[in-house]
Amino acid sequence: MPEPTPLMLESFEQLAKHRRSIRHFDPRAVADELLMRLLDCARWAPSGYNLQPTHFVLVSDLAIKMRLFTACMSQRQIVEAPTIVVFVGDRRAFQHNAEAMLAQERAAESISPEYETLLRRVLPLAFSHAPAGLGWLWKALLIPVAAIFRPVPSIPAVHQRFWLAKQVALAAMNFMLAAEAAGLATVPMEGFDERRVRRLLGIPRWCIVPIIVPVGYAADRPAGKTRLPLAGMTHRDRW
Ligand SMILES: Cc1cc2nc3c(=O)[nH]c(=O)nc-3n(C[C@H](O)[C@H](O)[C@H](O)COP(=O)(O)O)c2cc1C
Repeated sequence: MPEPTPLMLESFEQLAKHRRSIRHFDPRAVADELLMRLLDCARWAPSGYNLQPTHFVLVSDLAIKMRLFTACMSQRQIVEAPTIVVFVGDRRAFQHNAEAMLAQERAAESISPEYETLLRRVLPLAFSHAPAGLGWLWKALLIPVAAIFRPVPSIPAVHQRFWLAKQVALAAMNFMLAAEAAGLATVPMEGFDERRVRRLLGIPRWCIVPIIVPVGYAADRPAGKTRLPLAGMTHRDRW
């Protein structure tokens, strides 16, 4: 991979500012190879401890899309877009991915033995629900007490949905920007009944669905895009 250059920043600025939420799609399908390239960009998003909890469920079957449409508050883009990417967060990413991730990191020499030892100590503290699936409870009870004496970060085992939503959102944003770069259109969606979506798509009960992103070719683009001024949202040294 070449190093990024200042010219790439200009291209990125254009990309970020040009991306819009598109709600009307051309029926033209997106080539699977292209879709996989976009998902590959999503996969390269960062994640806490590199645990990579994000999964993608691709829906293009019309009968399934029609049922998804109902679960998504009848938002038309679900029917119009040729593919719907359901972004899923795996609550058991620690159990499912930690060893594979550590093995890869070791093979790539991207972690030192000392850091691996530290991770092996910290990860169970942060993620494990043992014993008896109630570990989160004693962690939740201990956090306010510990926080009196020392800084305590938010603990994924306790704030699971919050932790997962962050990881999945970063992957979804990578996906949407990659789609924009490929001349495709997307719209991020939170307007859906998560329980119905999970049941319809057979998503395991240990997963959550923070965001759904239809993808395809735009049939039309909305006019003018606005954002509040940067000065009003930037705080230096303190709020
Ligand atoms: C987390 C999230 C959830 C959203 N949910 C929906 C949705 O359910 N339906 C929809 O039409 N747009 C949805 N949007 C799109 C926003 O309305 C849109 O991003 C915003 O108006 C800014 O417009 P732009 O994306 O074109 O810049 C969502 C956006 C985000 C970031």
